[in-house]
Amino acid sequence: MRPIRSLAAGALTLLMVGLAAGCGGGTGGQQGAAPAGGSGGSTSSSSAKQIEIFSWWTAGGEADGLKALIDLFQKQDPGVQVINEAVAGGAGSNAKAVLANRMSAGNPPDTFQVHAGEELMAWVNAGKMQPLDSLYQQQSWNDVFPKQLIDMLSKNGHVYAVPVDIHRGNVLWYNKKIFDQYNLKPPTTFQEFFQVADALKAHGVTPLALADKDQWEATMLWEDVLLGVLGPEKYDALWKGQLPFDDPGVRQATQTFVQMLDYVNPNHAALEWQDGSQMVADGKAAMNVMGDWAKGYFTTSLHLQPGVDFGWTTTPGTAQDFMVVSDAFGLPVGAKHPQEVTDFLKVLGSKAGQDAFNPLKGSIPARTDGDPSKYDTYSQQAMQDFKVDALTPSLAHGSAASPAFLTAANQAVNILVSTKNVDQFLQALKTAAQENGIR
Ligand code: GAL
Repeated sequence: MRPIRSLAAGALTLLMVGLAAGCGGGTGGQQGAAPAGGSGGSTSSSSAKQIEIFSWWTAGGEADGLKALIDLFQKQDPGVQVINEAVAGGAGSNAKAVLANRMSAGNPPDTFQVHAGEELMAWVNAGKMQPLDSLYQQQSWNDVFPKQLIDMLSKNGHVYAVPVDIHRGNVLWYNKKIFDQYNLKPPTTFQEFFQVADALKAHGVTPLALADKDQWEATMLWEDVLLGVLGPEKYDALWKGQLPFDDPGVRQATQTFVQMLDYVNPNHAALEWQDGSQMVADGKAAMNVMGDWAKGYFTTSLHLQPGVDFGWTTTPGTAQDFMVVSDAFGLPVGAKHPQEVTDFLKVLGSKAGQDAFNPLKGSIPARTDGDPSKYDTYSQQAMQDFKVDALTPSLAHGSAASPAFLTAANQAVNILVSTKNVDQFLQALKTAAQENGIR
């Protein structure tokens, strides 16, 4: 077991303004909302047996995982109508703003997708979530979820959400055919990455697919490079306010990130994360850095074989690190159907629920007793790695820092991608950290 097992980013000042900041006009509104039960009837009555499930899972793999979970829930409780309130846009790029509007209007969904860590804590600190201590006790969840994960879902000894998955964020996916054709090995260090990228470029192949229409995709690449350069201890220290944002390692990581941009597709700003995965699947690019929901997309949506049609390795310098992205659901204050939420959470937290959802989604179960035989070779390896690797919290996926800091970081990374101005970027991060209580 590696030394750093702590995922919590420390005592950060959480500002609800951050959530509100994402609420400005012009968001797409609810998309893809549809009754999943097919049982018809009114969807607005709060007395009917129904539940509104809010998420951003509309893409291939993600939507399938959610459907499997809902199907299982409805098998156990056929009388409940499920309203699938999924808002399209990876990493909640649209959903989070819609959610913030609903929460501030006192109209919360019955239950909603939220990342373990600071993103959940923002709602908890605002008094918007109900504790789930007795449900945890009743379901013996304290024995089956990793303690570090429960800590990320808890405040002052009370637990506020149920985790459904663990995604790995530091994965480099590659097209096996291209790598075989040019006799290349998947890079494990930055030096190897640039050697491989130069070789691919010389063959006329786009080395790295980037798809950063929603900004977070570039932030994710930056945080993976940051982890690879800093290592888990320093990476962790940064989010705890113990390492300054002008540390030479942060600068070096940012310079490396900028260097990588020389190897990406020119149309990256027009593409969403699935498009980046698709480029690798189609051989239009050789590599892509993405969380393992991309594996769900490859296998569930595109029916590709892991290890045959596509390969993977950890992002450079992170072979023994696991960038944790965990989705959870809770019970907001004012939810109209608390009993149905409790029943749904029981399914979501159950072994059967997690083993139905995660094989389609690309993730591994948050429970430690998932059945490995239900998972493919990629996920079996991820399950092993999760037990021994250093676990680090993702910034891009809401765990490491407050929503307000993440909004600022996404904007700064977006500007960096077009200007490549490292000094300006580091200054922007430093200011955002000061404003949001990281330092
Ligand atoms: C993450 C989320 C994953 C996946 C991904 C892409 O934030 O944790 O479950 O949905 O976004 O949408």
